[in-house]
Amino acid sequence: MRRSYLYVPAIDERKILKASLLGADVVVFDLEDAVPDDRRDEARVLLERILGDEGYRSSLRNVGSVCVRVNSISTIDFYKDILLVSKLEPVDCIVVPKAEVDLSFIHKATGRSLIALIETARGFTRLDEVATSEGVEALMLGVADLALDVGGSLEDYENLEYPRVELVVKAKAYGLEAVDKVYFKIDDLEGFRRDAMRARALGYTGKQVVHPNQIPIANQVFQPTEEEIEWARKVVEAYEKARLEGRGAVRLEGRLVDRVHYRIAKRLLETLKTQGAT
Ligand code: COA
Ligand code: MG
Repeated sequence: MRRSYLYVPAIDERKILKASLLGADVVVFDLEDAVPDDRRDEARVLLERILGDEGYRSSLRNVGSVCVRVNSISTIDFYKDILLVSKLEPVDCIVVPKAEVDLSFIHKATGRSLIALIETARGFTRLDEVATSEGVEALMLGVADLALDVGGSLEDYENLEYPRVELVVKAKAYGLEAVDKVYFKIDDLEGFRRDAMRARALGYTGKQVVHPNQIPIANQVFQPTEEEIEWARKVVEAYEKARLEGRGAVRLEGRLVDRVHYRIAKRLLETLKTQGAT
């Protein structure tokens, strides 16, 4: 289950060393915007050194997935980042920023799974091509770059529903995870919670986070509640019984339940099973 994706600036040794202990489901070491232009080589050297350490690598076993956000594919740094990542054994996925073309070549070259960060106008118009690239397992929303790219205001783009819905719908259409935007006001944890709850209600399965305080909230919000688990069990039972009786739709506590509800309920219970929580 990947509920919280923690960004860690790859230039900040102290934060890298803490990253594996903070309870995030996914750690994303960032070689892109959290690193100043003139320190990218230094960041790569630092990341290679720390991830090469046996003790550190074993601490990463607490983390569900270890990713690196590389630079965008139109830069030389992208190629340097890819060369590095392909040497880093603990890294199992690559976050590709400003994704707007077929990304299969990155997966073919590295064998790592990909997360496509959609944050440009072209990224949105070419979502299908990006989403169907080999190796892509999640789509992520980026609103700051999107606002910049279209010449809009960050504040408006942060609160806009259109890109948020578009991204989750495409992700679901291709069977991918949908990862919600960053909430930049790190001291406003209630605002973060509301933002995460809205994302979850829209179908997002996780959220990008930038501060340790945001992690437990994301983990909680994207975790199914007891009532949801109970409801899922009832749906599965009612639907399977209906199928045995030759029916495909059934009334359950005043609500219609058919195949789609059954599949949603099944998926929720399967996720819990893989988590070892049932
Ligand atoms: N990863 C790991 N540890 C983090 C962290 C992160 N993203 N953000 C904060 N911490 C650590 C801090 O180092 C500090 O621990 P310490 O006192 O032992 O050093 C503790 O958590 C509390 O942090 P705090 O002092 O409240 O924050 P800060 O002022 O050090 O950092 C930010 C604030 C925003 C600079 C920082 O959270 C950050 O760099 N976030 C990620 C930014 C990023 O990667 N952006 C790119 C994607 S949008
Ligand atoms: Mg960006």
